[in-house]
Amino acid sequence: MSDSKPGTLIDGREIAQAIRDEVKAQIEEWTEAHRPPFLSAVLVGDNPASKAYVRGKEQDAAEVGIETNTHHYDSDLSEEALLDTVRGLNGDPSVDGILVQLPLPDHIDDRAVIDTIDPKKDVDGFHPANLGRLMRGNPSFVPATPYGIVTMLDRCGIDPKGMDTVIVGRSNIVGKPLANLLMQRDRNATVTVCHSRTKDLAAHTRRADLLVAAVGQAEMIGADMVKNGAVVIDVGINRVDDASNERGYRLVGDIDFEEVRPKSSWITPVPGGVGLMTRAMLLKNTMTAARLHATA
Ligand code: GUN
Repeated sequence: MSDSKPGTLIDGREIAQAIRDEVKAQIEEWTEAHRPPFLSAVLVGDNPASKAYVRGKEQDAAEVGIETNTHHYDSDLSEEALLDTVRGLNGDPSVDGILVQLPLPDHIDDRAVIDTIDPKKDVDGFHPANLGRLMRGNPSFVPATPYGIVTMLDRCGIDPKGMDTVIVGRSNIVGKPLANLLMQRDRNATVTVCHSRTKDLAAHTRRADLLVAAVGQAEMIGADMVKNGAVVIDVGINRVDDASNERGYRLVGDIDFEEVRPKSSWITPVPGGVGLMTRAMLLKNTMTAARLHATA
């Protein structure tokens, strides 16, 4: 691992900007001979966080030259109608990437929706075929948040080889795919995945050289749960009430940043950390999808 002063920031803004610049350059070259990559997003309902994510993705896409549209439906959309939309996008040759924003309303089975997305257009990497390839070690589309995390580590010169790695959170979107990526032969971390039923969570987190928090509970990990010199990655984006902020809330991670930073070697901030990387890696996956279609 490269040396760092205690509490060195892993700057998601800077790394995400570098990724966007790289994708933009690739797209400039690509569009000399092809149409621009096209990403279609599907949003159901009015979850404010989901709307904000989709807006952010549209802005990023525009910056690098990816064309987008968003299919926005009311929350009472039927599952069958959503599946029809997805099938339509699968069959539309002008669409390279399909992204169905999660979470979906309770009456819709997200697995049925994800299973319906053409794996070659599945820029989220959530389809079982893509998760299977990831688990086997030859990924096609890597889910954007785990992809963003390993990219941050790579770009900071942090090699997870042999590190005792503890991931708190076992979601299909972050915890499970990240555990797979980090344990593969090219990264060689020793990975423990903790969750809400883990006995004595702090005993695990305290021995982590690399600690990843992805649970969605504001500032749940304090300094007493972190080993001296740990690399700390915060995936949480939680809204907490804050009357002094004009929006009435502020964003905090799952890590108590102020407390944990001095103990860490490297740490990601919230905002300005993993969230921006998630958005940037989606752009990379969309470029991959465009290449796949052109050669299909
Ligand atoms: N909801 C939270 N993160 C994600 C993501 O990466 N992709 C999609 N589609 N929905 C999400």
